[in-house]
This record gives sequence, structure tokens and C-alpha cells, in this order.
Amino acid sequence: MKRIGVLTSGGDAPGMNAAIRSIVRSAIYHGIEVMGVNRGFRGLIEGDLFMMDVSSVGDIIHKGGTMLKSSRSEEFKTIEGRKKAMENLNNASIEGLVVIGGDGSFQGAREISELGIKTIGIPGTIDNDLAYTDFTIGFDTAVNTVLDSISKIRDTSTSHEKATIIEVMGRNCGDIALHAGISGGAESIVIPEMPLKIEDMIKKLNQGYDRGKLHHIILLAEGAGKAEDMRIELAEKAGIDARVSVLGFIQRGGDPTSFDRILASKMGVHAVEMLLEGYTNMVVGIKDSHLFHMDITESLKVKKRFDKDLYRLTELLSI
Ligand code: F6P
Repeated sequence: MKRIGVLTSGGDAPGMNAAIRSIVRSAIYHGIEVMGVNRGFRGLIEGDLFMMDVSSVGDIIHKGGTMLKSSRSEEFKTIEGRKKAMENLNNASIEGLVVIGGDGSFQGAREISELGIKTIGIPGTIDNDLAYTDFTIGFDTAVNTVLDSISKIRDTSTSHEKATIIEVMGRNCGDIALHAGISGGAESIVIPEMPLKIEDMIKKLNQGYDRGKLHHIILLAEGAGKAEDMRIELAEKAGIDARVSVLGFIQRGGDPTSFDRILASKMGVHAVEMLLEGYTNMVVGIKDSHLFHMDITESLKVKKRFDKDLYRLTELLSI
């Protein structure tokens, strides 16, 4: 293998730059050329590729976002779109492709590998919703960003003796809400995996107020509902005047944590070395602190195991 390509696709995640750096530098170390693809699969269809060298990835390890830009491409879902992409890969003499992204991106990677290009996926999404791996790149940073917001919201929430509903991202996965909620000492955590009855939350809120608790932080995962709907329900059913904070895209940006930078660096090297060994249609993952790889199709079939023990901590500790 003489030349590979790299792209980032779907929602960006802090640590994607560290992964790009790792891929480019380790490939060059092994004597392979690397081309960057701008704007994910869209750029692949448009032939928006450029040659990268050691210094193209200088000064990016600490930066959020992705220097290659990202997109969600509808055209790539069609066979015509993928054929155009494949033509551009062939024209650029690219023999292997590393795709950094979430499940939609892995689906794309799998489909283009069927057209003959060797493909390896690296999990990059803040959602941590890829069940085959313990962690995705960007999740740890997003959790820490939410945690920082919880601390700030707690200050004002306490001063005004209010309940605050903090809505966080995660698509259908409650991991951001669960991890940030536990580490931020939230009183209630509402996630798609463990729907909470509003009546139970009201009971807990009232118990807290009776004990002189000055605030009540509710962490709500976007997949479990909208914060504004919950605010209205609390007002109508119990006369509780809660505030709402929808954190939104701040969760996708920011300097990656050390954990995400190391994870990205390790996975980038692993992906390049897999291509060198001739692997295709594989994803890189981490389990019990060890890197591993598996078939993309199989990885997408793995069902997420809900961490009941972690969830139980709110019941025990936020009384
Ligand atoms: O997958 C990452 C994510 O930020 C999700 O948490 C969120 O639901 C979605 O992307 C938002 O997507 P978009 O950037 O297309 O609005």
C-alpha cells in the first residue's frame, strides 16, 4: 500500500484532529502517503482531496472540531454517489481509507468497501452510542463540558432556590447525561434507557425542598424528551417553577481532554497499521483499556449494554 486517504464524517467531536494527526504521522512514519478528504463523504464525491504531510497536522492535537471539516451526505447513500466517490479514490491512487465518525459514517465506510477500497473506521462521536466499543472519541470531552456547565448552573440555581432542567445531546443514547449527571451530583437523571415517571421526580423534588435543599438539577438526555415540555409538565402538575438550559452545540466543541487525545492517537496508529496488514471493512474499538478491531457489519449489530450500576448511584447518592 502506497497511499491512503482520511476523512471525518457526521457530527464532529473533540479529538478528531488528534486522530487525523495520528493517522497522517504514523502513515508517513511507515513510508505511506496520505491524502486528506475535505467535508467527509461529500468531499469524496466532489473529489475535494489534497496531499498531506507531517506539518499539515502540526498544531492541531489540542484543537476541537476537525481540520478536514465534516458533513452528512445524502448523495453518498445512493450507489451513484458511491461510484463517483470510488472513481475519485481510484483517480487519486488511494488504496486504503480511514473514516472517522459515528454509526452513519461506518455504514458509509462499509458500503464503499464493497466497491473495492480497503476501509477502516475509527469511532468519533460525542454520543458514545457505538455499543461495540467502551468509548468513542469526543465523549469524555463532551461530558467534561457538560460538567463545567452543571457547576455554573448549580451556583445560580442554589442562589434562586430553583430546579433547573439541563438538556444534553446524545441522540438515542443517555451516556452523556448519565456520566455528567453522576459526576455533577445531579438529583435526577432522565435518559432513554431508563425513563423516569414525572410523578416520581416531583416526589423527589418535594422531598428535597422539605429537607431544605436549595436546588434540584435534572439532567435530561435529548433522546428522552424536551426540557421545555418537562418544564411545562412540572409547572402544571406540581406548580414547580423550573428553569431550562439546553446546552446544544457547546457540547461538540472545545479542546479535547487528555483521555480523548490519547484514545485518538492510539486508534489512528492502529487503523494505519491494520491497513498495512491488509485488513478491510473493520473498525477499531477499546474494551477494558485494550484496543481491538472487528468487522464493521458485526460492530453495528452489537446492542448497547446499559450500565445499571452507574445509574443506581443517583438513586443512592442524590437523596
Ligand atoms: O451525533 C452527534 C450529535 O451532536 C447528536 O448528539 C445530536 O443529536 C446531533 O449530532 C445533532 O446533529 P446536527 O449537527 O446535524 O444538528
